Formats: sequence, C-alpha cells, structure tokens
Amino acid sequence: MTTTTVDAATGRSREMAASIAQVPGRHRMLTGDRPTGDLHIGHYLSSLRSRVALQDRGVEAFVLIADYQVITDRASVGQIKDNTLSLLTDYLAAGIDPERSTVFAHSAVPQLNQLILPFLSLVTQAELQRNPTVKDELAASRRPLSGLLLTYPVHQAADILFCKADIVPVGKDQLPHVEQTRVVARRFNSRYGAGAEVFPEPTALINDQQLILGVDGLKMSKSRGNVIRLAATEDETAALVRKARTDSEHEITYEPERRPEVANLLTIASGFTGRSPESLAEELGDGGGSALKTLVIDTINEGLRVHRDRRQLIAQDRAQLLQILRAGNAKAEAVADKTLTEVRQVMAMDY
Ligand code: TRP
Repeated sequence: MTTTTVDAATGRSREMAASIAQVPGRHRMLTGDRPTGDLHIGHYLSSLRSRVALQDRGVEAFVLIADYQVITDRASVGQIKDNTLSLLTDYLAAGIDPERSTVFAHSAVPQLNQLILPFLSLVTQAELQRNPTVKDELAASRRPLSGLLLTYPVHQAADILFCKADIVPVGKDQLPHVEQTRVVARRFNSRYGAGAEVFPEPTALINDQQLILGVDGLKMSKSRGNVIRLAATEDETAALVRKARTDSEHEITYEPERRPEVANLLTIASGFTGRSPESLAEELGDGGGSALKTLVIDTINEGLRVHRDRRQLIAQDRAQLLQILRAGNAKAEAVADKTLTEVRQVMAMDY
C-alpha cells in the first residue's frame, strides 16, 4: 500500500473514532478470529478488550468465528469444533454479550458465502496475488497456493459486507484487507448497483496497541511454546514468564530497538496496568530481570483473574455454548438473507 493510501486510511480511522464517541449507535462493526486454538494475551490486549469496549459504548457488534479460514493454510481442520467453542468461551468471558452482539460461525451462514460469487467477478487475479496477507500466508503455509487462499481477500470482503458493517477494527498490518473490501464495495455499486450505495465502504479502525511478542522475544506461536494463553493457570503463566529471555543488564530500561525482550515484557505489563512502559521501567530501576518478571506475572494474573474465572465457569456448559452459537448463527443468517435478496434484486436475478 502506498503512503498516501495509509495516510488516508489513518485519517478516516481518526474521524471514525470521533464519530463513535458521539453517535456510537449509528455504527456497526464486524471483526473476528480464526478458531485455531486458544486465544492468548496478545489477542486480549490488542483486540478482545477493545471490541468489548466498542460494544459497551453502544456500537452494534458482529463477531465472526472464521472457521472456513482455518483451511486456507492447513491441510486438515483439526479440532475445529472444540476450537470454535473455546473461542466463543473467550468472547463471552471477555464480556461480549450475545444479547447485544452477534457471534456466529462463518460456515453456518450460506447467504454470506454466496456473496463471494458476485464479488469474485469484481477482482483480478493480479490484485489477489499481490495482496500482502495472501503473500505472507502463502510463504508461511509452505504449500502451493490454493484457490481458497488466493481468494481470501474476497471472503473477508463478504464477511464485512454481508452485514454492511462500517467499522472494522484492525491492526495496521490488516489494512490491505479493508482497502480491498472498499474496492469490492465500490465496484459492486458502480457495476451492478448502477451507482446506488448497496454496500457502504467500511472504515478500518486502526488499533495502536504495540505488537506483543512471545516470552522468547519472537513472534507468538503455539509450536514455539512461547505463548501465554488466556486459559493458562496462574502457575503456568508464572512458569512461562520466568523462562522469558532477558539480558544481563540490571538496570531496567525501555529500549525496544536495543533490548527487545525487556521492552516486550514492559509492553505486556503496560497493557495490563495502563501505565507507560517507561514509567514501569523507571520504577523497577536496577531490580534486574527477576523483578521485571515478578511484575509481569502479577500484572497478567491480576489483569486476567476475572476473565479466567468466568472462562472456567462458561466452559463447563458445552450445551449452552452451542445454543448461544446457534442463536448467533440464526441472527447472522437473517441479516445475510436480507443482503442477498437485495443483491439478487439489483443484479436482476430475483426469480
Ligand atoms: N482473518 C482474520 C484472522 O486471521 C479473521 C477474519 C475473517 C476477519 N474475516 C474477517 C477479521 C473480517 C476482520 C474482518 O483472524
């Protein structure tokens, strides 16, 4: 993406934040995750709690469990049903309220998926191939490019547009998706809608939370065992943080370039306390890695205590989780059905 595009998106994000503060009820957000395993503290700090805050402010929330996306880069689906229910458990524990918000599984809404067909007619192979997320996922999957992975930006466009969401909370790295969705909406309106605004162009609400790394200072990944899961116990959390890599300097300072591992631990503590990493570093002074780790363990365990208690309780009732998901699926289906009907009408395919 060019700097101009990023600047424009940043400007729209700021305007949207101002509008949410004034008239939250006029906005609808769509966001979601892949059910690949348990959520971790990175998810909590960067997305989960801001979604709940938006919901609580009065923004209408659609939260998608992107189960079909799991097979874009994996050979098998694995424990997809368990993972889906675990994801739902974390949403509910974090405060997503199924009475106000719609939580649903992607695969359960056929009308949403049908939108992919007309949308595919609006994009070129070259456009899809140069999408940065498609490129990254392709490199990470170490498999040949599947049709599903190639068309990934189009499914995401359908995810966002089926409910005509005008807000998509994202990290900066996800911006190209929202841009692609804007292009799909614009082209649909001009090509099939004769200029009428069938689909609004959504705005990316850009999240500034700094990326949280694993306890070894590398990208969080289950296979590396460097991830602090929301479902982890306090003892598991402590053991993982104790293993974290730091350096031999006693004086704790926040220097992300020179001391990335120490900076990452400070960022985590900052996320859970709301204090700046610099002020936490100053307070720790020459306490060294051990004092820093104690602080990080305490802030994570305190910050997640309510979440973990609720999570445990909710996870016990699988039947109720399924019921909540089915109700969300039905709500999403009703919305998708309305949109597909409108699409059929504007495309003169309403038989
Ligand atoms: N791709 C997202 C992830 O990897 C999940 C997702 C699917 C999504 N569709 C979306 C996020 C639409 C935002 C908007 O977790």
